[in-house]
Amino acid sequence: MPKKILVAYTSKYGSTRKYAEWIASALNADLFAAQTVKPKILSQYDAGGIAGVKLVTQNPCKNHIVFTVGLADPNSTDYSAIINKNFTPELFAKTKFFHLRGGIDYKKLGPVHKVMMAMMKGMIQRKPESEREADDKEFLDTYNSKVNFEDKRTIDSIIAYVKGL
Ligand SMILES: Cc1cc2nc3c(=O)[nH]c(=O)nc-3n(C[C@H](O)[C@H](O)[C@H](O)COP(=O)(O)O)c2cc1C
Repeated sequence: MPKKILVAYTSKYGSTRKYAEWIASALNADLFAAQTVKPKILSQYDAGGIAGVKLVTQNPCKNHIVFTVGLADPNSTDYSAIINKNFTPELFAKTKFFHLRGGIDYKKLGPVHKVMMAMMKGMIQRKPESEREADDKEFLDTYNSKVNFEDKRTIDSIIAYVKGL
């Protein structure tokens, strides 16, 4: 029987939605915005790739696959703190994580996010240059502009993993 797969996502500016659409299309999966997924529905699925931490942490399904979309380069980012904060050790052990890269267009940010990014800039600028990571430098270089790292090929590892379940 073909696997029943749900891809649920939340997305503020569209990057995560785009990745979710790519993944759902490649896997012939059902696609939902996380706000519209009724928790009970999850138990009907063999696999769920879910961006919307609460939905996953509170409603386990058979195979959990979590993908994150951020601005930081996944190859040089340590996600352990954020994962430990949001996942119990039990759920962590049952979950497969993938990290993808989105983008940002400062012109499109809402006022609250604009302030948050300005605070982030201030925090980085207060670090001595010698202590700044590559991501910090990139943040400062791209601050107030538009960057896009969305890359469809980066879903390949997710697709291969789910097909191998
Ligand atoms: C207020 C704010 C905070 C952010 N914090 C992070 C962060 O901690 N790490 C990261 O990698 N990206 C961060 N980003 C970048 C977003 O994750 C990135 O723009 C992503 O593509 C947004 O996806 P979405 O459009 O699906 O919401 C942040 C963006 C904003 C506006």
